[in-house]
Amino acid sequence: MRTHYPVVIVGAGPAGLLLSHLLHLQGIESIVLESRSREAVESTIRAGVLEQGTMDILNETGVGERMRREGAVHHGIELAFGGARHRIALTELTGRAITVYAQHEVIKDLIAAREAVQGEILFDVSDVSVHDVDSAQPSVQFVVDGQTRRLTCDFIAGCDGFHGVCREAIPSDVREEYQRVYPFGWFGVLVEAPPSSDELIYAAHERGFALISTRSPMVQRMYFQCDPSERAETWSDERIWHELHTRTESDDGWRLKEGRIFQKNVVAMRSFVATPMQHGRLFLAGDAAHIVPPTGAKGMNLAVADVWRLARALDDFYHRDTEDALKGYSAAALKRIWRAEHFSYWMTRMLHRLDDASPFEQKMQRAELEYVVSSRAASLTLAENYVGLPLA
Ligand code: FAD
Ligand code: DHB
Repeated sequence: MRTHYPVVIVGAGPAGLLLSHLLHLQGIESIVLESRSREAVESTIRAGVLEQGTMDILNETGVGERMRREGAVHHGIELAFGGARHRIALTELTGRAITVYAQHEVIKDLIAAREAVQGEILFDVSDVSVHDVDSAQPSVQFVVDGQTRRLTCDFIAGCDGFHGVCREAIPSDVREEYQRVYPFGWFGVLVEAPPSSDELIYAAHERGFALISTRSPMVQRMYFQCDPSERAETWSDERIWHELHTRTESDDGWRLKEGRIFQKNVVAMRSFVATPMQHGRLFLAGDAAHIVPPTGAKGMNLAVADVWRLARALDDFYHRDTEDALKGYSAAALKRIWRAEHFSYWMTRMLHRLDDASPFEQKMQRAELEYVVSSRAASLTLAENYVGLPLA
């Protein structure tokens, strides 16, 4: 059994899997350690919106074939408020677009690509711990099939999400954390129905936010703002439809199409950044280092941008004999991350019902929405952030 790998990656989410794929294309070997089962990883329902840059990376690295076939390219989104819908023409404004394609489908495509070249992914590992990240030869210990194993490596990539163990390996005296927890969450449903709209609808209503997204011609994804402690299983379908209809109602007679609800879940919302994202030979990427509220659809896209940068820095280290990009990884990645943090916070504040807002602040919220949909400059600000700023 092998005991050394150039790179050990903790976590088989979009960040960890894409990193191992990019490293493979650069001739750098890695192994991915994942605590959940393959089935769980391939079926967890999460993100849906891929930025132009994410689409480009998947296409350019040979894992975009099914996304091109089954994903839906969108050239605009709609903001709904005050009984009217307003289009933000993403492509007209920016020349770029987004694709709606579920995160777990991206994960399936990446696992298939790793499998096709005998890439190593160990599922169902437990008790992962990282060691000696300050030295030239760190190691990762874990349990798999009841056996404790230890792998040495040149680098550890902490791609283990918000609840992972890698972030904690950065000593607390050098780690800073910035956080905001929102007093609301999203109630998400999957519905067996045809699309109600050609484009995503982000709705701001007195009763709270709602989002109408899609998955396929037969399955739709919808969300509405709720109390973060809400238990999804206690909500009847009738009550869910009532909220969704009320919050998306429109003066032009348009109405949401109903269907069988076959999945319900509640997600809490936070903004979070840990800095620096590296210490010695340990590098964090994706949700392990930062979280955004889902309103801007940025979480998975940020994870992709992080590992794209990290893979290039490792390529420089192994093939161009320079550590400059590795040394500058955290600082460079954080520029994009703080921009996305602001965008996600701004979208969240603009579109949600803020119970702590005074009547004055509520008027400010409406004035901002009116400006965003009526000014080209303001629409462009939303659009260029939503489709994703250039990677480099
Ligand atoms: P994760 O996907 O969390 O993967 C981390 C992996 O590490 C997991 O598989 C976990 O099991 C594993 N792991 C954890 N601890 C350990 C350990 N100790 N040992 C081994 N393995 C471990 N983002 C977007 O870009 N667009 C969207 O439209 C969007 N919508 C969203 C909607 C919802 C409802 C939610 C919840 C999120 C949404 N996001 C969206 C965010 C996106 O899903 C995340 O940002 C993304 O999953 C981050 O990827 P990651 O690989 O960094 O982390
Ligand atoms: C979806 C999720 C988001 O967070 C978002 O902003 C748009 C769409 C989705 O799951 O389809």
